[in-house]
Amino acid sequence: MSNVSKDEALKNASNVVALLSQGSDPFISEEVRAQALQAANLVIRALEKPEDGLIKFAFSPTTWMAIRVCAQLNVFDMITKHETISAAEIARIANADETLIRRLLRVLTAAGFVAEKGNGLYGPTHWTVHINSRLAQGMLKFIYDSSMLPIAQGVNWLKETGYRNPVDPQHGMFQAANQTDMPTFKWLTVPKNKEIWDNANTFFEGDRGSRPSWVTWFPTKEKFFPEGHQQEVPLLVDVAGGRGHDLMEFLDKYPDELGPFVLQDQQVVLDSALSLSPKIEKQPFDLFEDPPVKGARIYFMKFILHDYADEQCMQILRNVKASMVKGYSYLVINDFILPDVGCGLLQSQWDLMMMVLLSSMERTEAQWRALLESAGLSIEGLYLPPGDAQGIIVATL
Ligand SMILES: C[S@@+](CC[C@H](N)C(=O)[O-])C[C@H]1O[C@@H](n2cnc3c(N)ncnc32)[C@H](O)[C@@H]1O
Repeated sequence: MSNVSKDEALKNASNVVALLSQGSDPFISEEVRAQALQAANLVIRALEKPEDGLIKFAFSPTTWMAIRVCAQLNVFDMITKHETISAAEIARIANADETLIRRLLRVLTAAGFVAEKGNGLYGPTHWTVHINSRLAQGMLKFIYDSSMLPIAQGVNWLKETGYRNPVDPQHGMFQAANQTDMPTFKWLTVPKNKEIWDNANTFFEGDRGSRPSWVTWFPTKEKFFPEGHQQEVPLLVDVAGGRGHDLMEFLDKYPDELGPFVLQDQQVVLDSALSLSPKIEKQPFDLFEDPPVKGARIYFMKFILHDYADEQCMQILRNVKASMVKGYSYLVINDFILPDVGCGLLQSQWDLMMMVLLSSMERTEAQWRALLESAGLSIEGLYLPPGDAQGIIVATL
């Protein structure tokens, strides 16, 4: 039996206290919150004995399954709408066995996702309310449904492929699990996969989580808005911008900018982008074909290049480059910039999820520099936000 060191636990706990005592704001800054959370995780690591912690970790997919089943049965919605609701009532509405509901909810109350109000009685916590939101439902359904099988089979798949780093979009873990050689985004847009694709797009709307949008911390106006922009060319093109959520945030921050603004994506995605500002033009396009907009001021790409290995990124970058004007256009990439040392858990998990779903990767600063330089782009700067959000990489011709 390993012993828990009081010194180590205390040292980590006092780090958390010291971090939280910084500043006098009623709310903790994003930077302090991220650091304190990392330190608090170390307190848990120090207090939890490995022989228990590891079993808990190995069993954690059962919690994930319970969340997915409860989402399927609308249990979070029922709990959110009632101060207290019984297992019997949930079972009746969901047409499920009460014993099953109690067992699923036991793990979710133990995890703090649902409040336990008594024997077989449940109420909402702020986690329940979040899990019940449209964006969270899209995320958890898409991620569970698309990744669990490739993850389960990934161990054998990596063995069979000789432990090579996956880079082939047509032959990855996702393709093996779904018995296809279609790249993931092509497979997702096949009509029979409509439901999972809809969940994916809802996930993309909220994939930034609570981490701050670039418009809240990056000096966009000072850096990019040209005096006397003539509106003959777009101010900003959101390249593969999904349902336009990032453009809408941009316009909330800069309501006086006239644009024009262009949202590019696949037609099927644009068709589901319903509440856009009239300043935004929808433009169907293909990342791998000639770009339709030439000479815009900003080509913005969020969570696009991390979907591809270097070879496909080079094709995408060649296309963007061809539409940029030297001395005027900027490419603005909003993606994680992983540190070489001390990478946080969330970013390192994103990286592996990219491997599982797309044979792609998150990149370190050195990898971003190598990629953009070999595409013939010049890096104006790499900028890191407060906390652990995605960074901004600005490149020019
Ligand atoms: C990870 S999502 C990112 C969406 C958005 N930029 C965001 O950050 O929320 C990738 C986007 O790329 C689009 N996409 C994938 N392959 C594409 C292609 N060949 N041509 C155009 N868009 C594509 C998808 O439809 C999706 O909207």
